[in-house]
Amino acid sequence: MQSRAHQLHREGRRIAFVPTMGFLHTGHLSLMRIARERGDILVISIFVNPTQFAPGEDFEAYPRDMPRDLGLAESVGTDIVFTPDNEMMYAEGFQTYVSPENLSRGMCGKSRPIFFRGVATVVTKLFNIVRPDIAVFGEKDYQQLVIIRRMVRDLDFGIEIVGGPTVRENDGLAMSSRNAYLRPDQRAAALSLYQALQLSRTLVKAGERQADKIIAAAKRHIASFDGTAIDYVVIVDPETLDDMTVVDRPARMALAVKVGATRLIDNMALGEDLADRPA
Ligand code: PAF
Repeated sequence: MQSRAHQLHREGRRIAFVPTMGFLHTGHLSLMRIARERGDILVISIFVNPTQFAPGEDFEAYPRDMPRDLGLAESVGTDIVFTPDNEMMYAEGFQTYVSPENLSRGMCGKSRPIFFRGVATVVTKLFNIVRPDIAVFGEKDYQQLVIIRRMVRDLDFGIEIVGGPTVRENDGLAMSSRNAYLRPDQRAAALSLYQALQLSRTLVKAGERQADKIIAAAKRHIASFDGTAIDYVVIVDPETLDDMTVVDRPARMALAVKVGATRLIDNMALGEDLADRPA
């Protein structure tokens, strides 16, 4: 893959890259379409990365379907699908990791302390192998997107990072490979995430500015569904991910909720029409 990438660069082609863990859905395909428009060659990777799963998480159970994924990748005009295995990515003696600092400590980092180290490490390796000019990541994993942008700046990767909008089912549920775990009754409860975000947007539009009140209303809504357990609901600065107490400028609301054994995340912009910074 690396020598192919060098060859493509010698030919003056621009490589656009979408890293994935497979079990592709419409959300992934939309990222691939964005990438295809921005580059000459579309490369995707499919690799369920063991270093971003803690013991007891769903690494083994994570859904996999390579033949289906290859068909879907082809349907959006993917030129190269890079499918390394664990031995290739983490050879015997592997010991070098990329560890994001503050940005990885809150939100998902609290309950998944090794997650972002695993993500930053594998994305670094994938960038070094695929040598993309641009890479597209979903806004659905908002904290991941912010951390990757920061990492690319901090470590001078010289890669343009593009965020792709979250793709939702007709009723609003954010697309995720993990939705495959949900039973029909859990699928209904999973909708509480989107509804809580929408409710929060409505509150902000109606003039509510106190983050704690908005968060409390969102939590009440989610808790009213059987089988939900809230991990976090936060309103943060869209770039620093620091908690905001007053929504007087654009903010990001993000949440993680367990529905049965399935941990789901979602997020949404709040107050985009408010002044960018307080006067
Ligand atoms: O978002 C994902 O699917 C993964 O975290 C990524 C970026 C492919 C790294 O394994």
